[in-house]
Amino acid sequence: MGSVLMAGDLHGNTSHALALLRVAVRQQCDRVFVLGDFGAWEHTAEGRHYFDVVDRSARKNRVRVYFLDGNHDKTSLLHQLYGAEPDNEGFLVCRKNIRYAPRGLRWIWEGTRFAAFGGAYSVDKAWRLAKEAQREQKAERRRQFGSSRHPATAETLWFPEEEMTDAECDALLAADDTPVDVLLTHDKPRDSDPAWNRKNLPECVPNQDRIQRVVNTLRPRLMLHGHLHYRYTDAIDCGGGQRTRVEGLGADPEASHPSDYRSSSSWLVLNLPYAGESAERELAG
Ligand SMILES: [Fe+2]
Ligand SMILES: [Fe+2]
Repeated sequence: MGSVLMAGDLHGNTSHALALLRVAVRQQCDRVFVLGDFGAWEHTAEGRHYFDVVDRSARKNRVRVYFLDGNHDKTSLLHQLYGAEPDNEGFLVCRKNIRYAPRGLRWIWEGTRFAAFGGAYSVDKAWRLAKEAQREQKAERRRQFGSSRHPATAETLWFPEEEMTDAECDALLAADDTPVDVLLTHDKPRDSDPAWNRKNLPECVPNQDRIQRVVNTLRPRLMLHGHLHYRYTDAIDCGGGQRTRVEGLGADPEASHPSDYRSSSSWLVLNLPYAGESAERELAG
């Protein structure tokens, strides 16, 4: 039997990533799976360094780190850099011990069928675009004075691929609509009802509807997501008289979060194989 440490958003927080690897070792998990906003910012030197540091620690601890994409991950660059040679389960190999689950990926771990659907809408999109424009103005002024060290800043803070499109979601479900046991996403499904939710602008709803469509099609017994930076448990209908248990996980300590935040609200242990709602022991947090 194996165990996976499921974790909420990291936002490139190295010390939290290393702390989670220590938790994984303590909990006898040989895998960590981060539910988006991992901190995939390899267009920056800091971002590449973060990958290197996390990979080194993961190798040392014999833990493999997996992630799906959040709205704050530069997914297009992951496909560009690592898309050509996925591993034999379909994950993109970013480092030896860091692997990315592209949207719609399905895989089986110890008899348990998984699917990953990343992406979400950024509620701070306007702020990010304004910041990019400000930096671009500065860079342009420097370029006029002959400096070539200031590259374009578009798509460095806000990424156009941040949420699934309807066409993308429909195509992924049309390609394979068979059920899974565990669904992993970044965004919440429309029907779950957390007590604390900052991601409630009308612009957030279309992607939540897409995730709900994924739930209603794949009918998982369990789904886990991040993005809200809030730990909660819920159960929602997924059609055909079936229910899906929803576990929302908290984020790293530096992220915005409710006042009762504890670092243990950012992870839980999923024991495999996942046998379903009768087995509470399969989830420990
Ligand atoms: Fe986040
Ligand atoms: Fe997010």
